[in-house]
Amino acid sequence: MKVLVIGASGLVGSHLLQTCQQRGWNVMGTYHNFAQPGLIPFQITDAVGVRSLITESQPEVVFLPAFCSNVDYCEQNPDETYQLNVVGCVNVAQATRDVGAKLVFYSSDYVFNGENGPYQETDRPDPICVYGRQKLEVEQKISQLLDNYLICRIAWVYGQEAQGKNFVLRLISTLKNNQIIRVPQDQIGSPTLATDIAEASCRLVEVGAQGLFHTTGIDCMNRYQFALKVAEVFGLQTDTLVPVITSELNQAAARPLKCGTRCDHLRQTLNWNSRGVVDGLNCLKNAQMV
Ligand SMILES: NC(=O)c1ccc[n+]([C@@H]2O[C@H](COP(=O)([O-])OP(=O)(O)OC[C@H]3O[C@@H](n4cnc5c(N)ncnc54)[C@H](OP(=O)(O)O)[C@@H]3O)[C@@H](O)[C@H]2O)c1
Repeated sequence: MKVLVIGASGLVGSHLLQTCQQRGWNVMGTYHNFAQPGLIPFQITDAVGVRSLITESQPEVVFLPAFCSNVDYCEQNPDETYQLNVVGCVNVAQATRDVGAKLVFYSSDYVFNGENGPYQETDRPDPICVYGRQKLEVEQKISQLLDNYLICRIAWVYGQEAQGKNFVLRLISTLKNNQIIRVPQDQIGSPTLATDIAEASCRLVEVGAQGLFHTTGIDCMNRYQFALKVAEVFGLQTDTLVPVITSELNQAAARPLKCGTRCDHLRQTLNWNSRGVVDGLNCLKNAQMV
């Protein structure tokens, strides 16, 4: 299988790269600012460059985790991030369709308003921030442009990461240094191990699945509870872990509070489940990834 991972230097992309390589697939990956050995420099907003990369490499599958995922930055810079997040992803979608390849796009539970989670695929999206609206717009454009696509909605991703910016790695390092970290106890979500997203994605490709899938971990909990689990599994003191409510954080973008996703469709399609929180954290720990 010949595949292209656009955004292979990021958290999800690096695990996709690894999982595809473990399967013996012929994988090419791109980076933008964070150069990594073997990856190709690539700018998703350059429509001509997007088309030539995809046309020349002729992949059978294009995985697309590239996006500006900084929710507050998207809120404060809606026009700039629209170019990357919507126009850039549509560039990839069109070029992927034109070479007859499958597109796998990574969306988010932020397409929901967070009033009534956990959500399934048939629930109505109603985003309450710029990032969520951009995700939904890309979902809609992909479903109009292509037949052969997967949209994987993911959430609260953690795992080994060269840039070390995901919540779990930052939390571990903050608690180890006895520094204060304020964590909201009113945001509910589905923590997801990055390797499970990669495994689910490859399995969905292998069985020829198409359409929308919630592809998260199986547990739903609030972020403070999640932080306590991290501390427990990694044997860290929690004296500097401070529960707060989201409004105290004065963030630019509104957060969907009662979110989380249900993955029945994924389980039924693959006869496979992603991990719950304790399993996922132990997997991270046992692999001595941190
Ligand atoms: N992490 C989460 O908790 C989470 C939750 C829900 C949904 N998601 C979605 O899942 C996807 C992957 O997330 P992630 O955490 O892996 O993100 P990430 O670590 O920030 O990775 C983003 C990737 O996109 C690349 N990129 C950024 N700007 C680019 C540009 N202009 N042109 C080409 N590539 C560009 C980055 O390259 P460089 O690093 O080299 O600059 C990086 O490889 C995103 O769509 C995100 O919104 C993530």
